[in-house]
Amino acid sequence: MKIIQSIQEMTEWSRHHSVGLGLVPTMGFLHEAHLALVKKSLKECQSTVVSIFTNPAQFGPKEDLDSYPKDLENDQKKLEALKTDVLFLPPPEEVYPSGYKTYIKVKDISERLCGITRPVFFEGVATVVLKLFNIVRPEFAFFGEKDWQQLEVIRTMVRDLNLDVTIKTVPLIREPDGLAMSSRNSYLSGEERRSALGLYKSLNVAKDLLDQGETSVPVLREKIRDVIAQNPFTNIEYISICDPHTFEECDQIFQKALIALAVKVGKARLIDNVIVERISCKD
Ligand code: PAF
Repeated sequence: MKIIQSIQEMTEWSRHHSVGLGLVPTMGFLHEAHLALVKKSLKECQSTVVSIFTNPAQFGPKEDLDSYPKDLENDQKKLEALKTDVLFLPPPEEVYPSGYKTYIKVKDISERLCGITRPVFFEGVATVVLKLFNIVRPEFAFFGEKDWQQLEVIRTMVRDLNLDVTIKTVPLIREPDGLAMSSRNSYLSGEERRSALGLYKSLNVAKDLLDQGETSVPVLREKIRDVIAQNPFTNIEYISICDPHTFEECDQIFQKALIALAVKVGKARLIDNVIVERISCKD
């Protein structure tokens, strides 16, 4: 595996490998959900670049930029074992040199759900992803559906700015007990981790209620709240039942809807989601 640590070298390498090139952007501390993206790219693309960059622009001043988990040695081993072509480690001072001024804003959808409490998050994500697309020039880029809103922001940016890249996705991946995989799960103590299972449980309870015919969003939302609140250390940031593309809140579930959660468990801010669909009955 080639390791590239400068933007210029990355651009030069990409110029000679542009056909069928896949990019997997990450912030490192790689787990199975990241590796699923890498495996998909390796299978579907001629060559694969994985970037590791803890992007300061997507962290607010009181967020966990300084404590964000890192283990580059282990990440490198995992990527080497998969036979990744390139690991790209752009230096922060090259990505955001002094005097850096340009940020990408995807209106409306960035301001809902996670955008309410993390007002700079999606601007930071869109900016770094566009920069990575311009540096690496991939034909395909891979993102996980766990970050559903992030995925919609990136898809919208690609569409609106006529970017010549195809976005590919991998479904949300869970631990065997149901906890959605996330680098931030490493912040959880044993007790907190048990409480965190309430997120998945609450989504399943809501899905079951919907399958039994309950389509009222206030009722479903209250049920989700009850299930999560039964677990200690949990602090609900939002429970949203909304359109999966515009993120406008629904009153009733008539068709497809996104149920998305953000919950603090101890100091870990966790998100989870599921797409639900009303099953229509004949009688
Ligand atoms: O999902 C992530 O890990 C990050 O938000 C991303 C897409 C790598 C941008 O920094």
